Amino acid sequence: MTTLNKPFYIGGVLIDPPLALAPMAEVTDTYYRSLVKELGGAGLVVSEFISAEGLTRDNVRTKQMLKFDEKERPVAIQIYGGDPDRMDDAAAIVEAEGVDIVDVNMGCPVRKVVKSGAGSALLKDFDRAARVVEKIKRRVKIPVTVKVRKGWESDDVLPLLRRFEEIGVASIAIHGRTRNEAYTGASDWDYIAGIKSELTIPVFGNGDVKTAADAIRMFETTGVDGVMIGRAALHNPFIFRDIQALILGVPTDKDEVDRRIDAMHRYLAKIEDAPQIINWKLHKARTVIGWFSKGIAHGKDIRSGLADITSVADVRRLLDQARERLAA
Ligand SMILES: Cc1cc2nc3c(=O)[nH]c(=O)nc-3n(C[C@H](O)[C@H](O)[C@H](O)COP(=O)(O)O)c2cc1C
Repeated sequence: MTTLNKPFYIGGVLIDPPLALAPMAEVTDTYYRSLVKELGGAGLVVSEFISAEGLTRDNVRTKQMLKFDEKERPVAIQIYGGDPDRMDDAAAIVEAEGVDIVDVNMGCPVRKVVKSGAGSALLKDFDRAARVVEKIKRRVKIPVTVKVRKGWESDDVLPLLRRFEEIGVASIAIHGRTRNEAYTGASDWDYIAGIKSELTIPVFGNGDVKTAADAIRMFETTGVDGVMIGRAALHNPFIFRDIQALILGVPTDKDEVDRRIDAMHRYLAKIEDAPQIINWKLHKARTVIGWFSKGIAHGKDIRSGLADITSVADVRRLLDQARERLAA
């Protein structure tokens, strides 16, 4: 298939390799994104969704979410909100931070978000959705992208995507489920293929890519320009690297346990240096080390030890103990 692993541009931003870490709330902060980027294979990383309300009201915690590392580039910051008059102000704040792309969330199914007219609620009102994007597009110079679902219920998002194309949206990402499906059933790759064939702007396909082989299958069966991966990257932050290895026919890293423990150490170093309070660091360590240690020898020991940690150094000790047990 011609699109397989071909770099492409979003506006003037080169996406190479054409694989993206999907936006995930409470996950894809600067520490997680820079880790994935360092491990290799991801051509784009997208932030967790950030409230336009919070940004435009100068909320300190919301503004902290804009933080990114130069090594993440190209990096997209995703914003959400339902008010066209606020979203363009939020996009201008994002642009002023110096990021590469501003992405608009039109997929979030969560009730609280939808009730405020944001996220996938915009898929119920194409005029408002188009107005949001039009105002942002007029306001900023960096590329504007949108992440959508198939529709709200059984409706079809294609007419809206055609409007986005006319407005000058640089790329879209489509998750092949409706809002009402949330995360049930399967991502509809046939629908994604149909969308790709109807648009001229680059399209990221999203949903249910669990393995490197799945990513290749998505490229081949849908013709998308890029593949965007969310949940699989939680347990396997190496998935982008593994996809590259599979496509290029090079061997993957030999020792799974070793590379995982190394990634855990890298992650710990990042959060240790972060300005956040210790409770945040412990929460992050428990969550992320919990994910990365799944499925490896002595992973269970690491996870049960996480219950008693009181410092990042404690987590390092757990990892060292796991390595010692492996070597024994
Ligand atoms: C924990 C979690 C948080 C998410 N947060 C966001 C978000 O902030 N913005 C967004 O557009 N999608 C969000 N999503 C949806 C993902 O970006 C993606 O569309 C979805 O998980 C399907 O892809 P996957 O099968 O590769 O996980 C989130 C998903 C998960 C699991």
